Amino acid sequence: MTHNNFSFPRDFLWGAATAAYQIEGAWNVDGRGESIWDRFSHTPGKVLGGDTGDVACDHYHRFAEDIEIMRRMNLRGYRFSVSWPRVMPTGSGPANWVGLDFYDRLVDSLLSAGIEPFLTLYHWDLPQALQEIGGWSNRDVSAYFADYAALMAHRLGDRVKYWTTFNEPGVFTFIGNRSGEHAPGYKDEKLSLQIGHNALLAHGMAMQAMRASKSDIQAGMVLSLWPSEPAGSSQAEKDAAEKIWQKDQAWFIDPLLRAHYPIIGWQEYGASVPEVKPGDMAIIAQKLDFLGVNYYSRNLIGPEGQINPVPGSEYTEMGWEVSPPTLRRLLVRLHKEYKVPPIYITENGAAFKDVVSEDGQIHDERRIAFLRDHLIQVRNAIEDGVDVRGYFAWSLLDNFEWQYGYSKRFGLVHVDYPTQKRIIKDSGNWYAQTSRRNGFSMSTAGDDTSQKSLAERALAKSL
Ligand code: FCB
Repeated sequence: MTHNNFSFPRDFLWGAATAAYQIEGAWNVDGRGESIWDRFSHTPGKVLGGDTGDVACDHYHRFAEDIEIMRRMNLRGYRFSVSWPRVMPTGSGPANWVGLDFYDRLVDSLLSAGIEPFLTLYHWDLPQALQEIGGWSNRDVSAYFADYAALMAHRLGDRVKYWTTFNEPGVFTFIGNRSGEHAPGYKDEKLSLQIGHNALLAHGMAMQAMRASKSDIQAGMVLSLWPSEPAGSSQAEKDAAEKIWQKDQAWFIDPLLRAHYPIIGWQEYGASVPEVKPGDMAIIAQKLDFLGVNYYSRNLIGPEGQINPVPGSEYTEMGWEVSPPTLRRLLVRLHKEYKVPPIYITENGAAFKDVVSEDGQIHDERRIAFLRDHLIQVRNAIEDGVDVRGYFAWSLLDNFEWQYGYSKRFGLVHVDYPTQKRIIKDSGNWYAQTSRRNGFSMSTAGDDTSQKSLAERALAKSL
């Protein structure tokens, strides 16, 4: 029997991620203001089944239990987001001390459980009061965001080392304002690109404000990177895939790391390009201590455009193709083409149809295979020379998956919403062991046939 050992660098940060609106609930409790996601989910027809984040996983009241679960899962890091309207109900006005106290307690409890807090300032829940003045299309909101960032850094910067400004600006820019499936639900390309620009500007201003408030923090940005890859080797396929990369991915990477928008993307957007004021790009391109990469899937581009479904590929419940080797190629591209700072995989995971078996457990083999296959590719990328410092599985808990409500389960921990009972899934137990061992080993022959086939599949994909 052959054993393949997949071990990770010392101090590799094994974590899981969540976001405030997706888990906290307590939407109108203790002085929290309304967010655009409250308004959106309360509008009939916007979210599947009329689901809302009103209660979600009730994490606001159950955070101690959730941290105990994280401790049992040997998590070393926890990526969460702060709800801006919980700590500043109208986004620009006075702070809500009860809301701030919640994050104080959360951080203190994490630290006493030996878990590194990894804080995101904005995971899409803009205070509704700021939407009333135009939301991100109004540059004043970028300045308010910097004030909020400074407030949080002042309050938690003595204990929270890792800070990220935004989660996936590309997603709320385009899905929130161009296709309209996310809050606030606009369908306007020009507006969306201005919003993207003002969010990048807000990022730069917040980086400056946080560092002024607390100079020794590690601060960065989280991008959703969803590569387009050519199916064949023809120039037309390569060019088509590259054009999409320039319009969607490089649109956010280049301003941050090169202080300008990508030329091809700028040409492609024509009259929709945003207004950029003198000095904006220098503010945006603040030095990043790290880059957060969220990776889920890719688009495969053939001669006739996107190939969907890709024959022979596995798909998740989101309809997303499972493509682990793309993650390695993505990381290597970032490393080679851009002067990327150290990388954290800040999200990676999959929704599958989970079943609570008669034994009361969730035997989510496919999720284990998904995590393992992607981690193999992360490790391959590290061997290729990419500086990857940690990995956060999406998600700690099953939760409110935006326009799909509670119909998609991404958690390592199952949540029974009516009772709020949590059960660690098999994938959660596998991940706990992986964290404890700083990796995993697989046998390529043996008496356990399911283990064997998983291992073989993972190895074949990693070649
Ligand atoms: C990402 C989001 C996260 C979650 C996953 C599935 O784009 O950051 O909140 O919804 O997708």
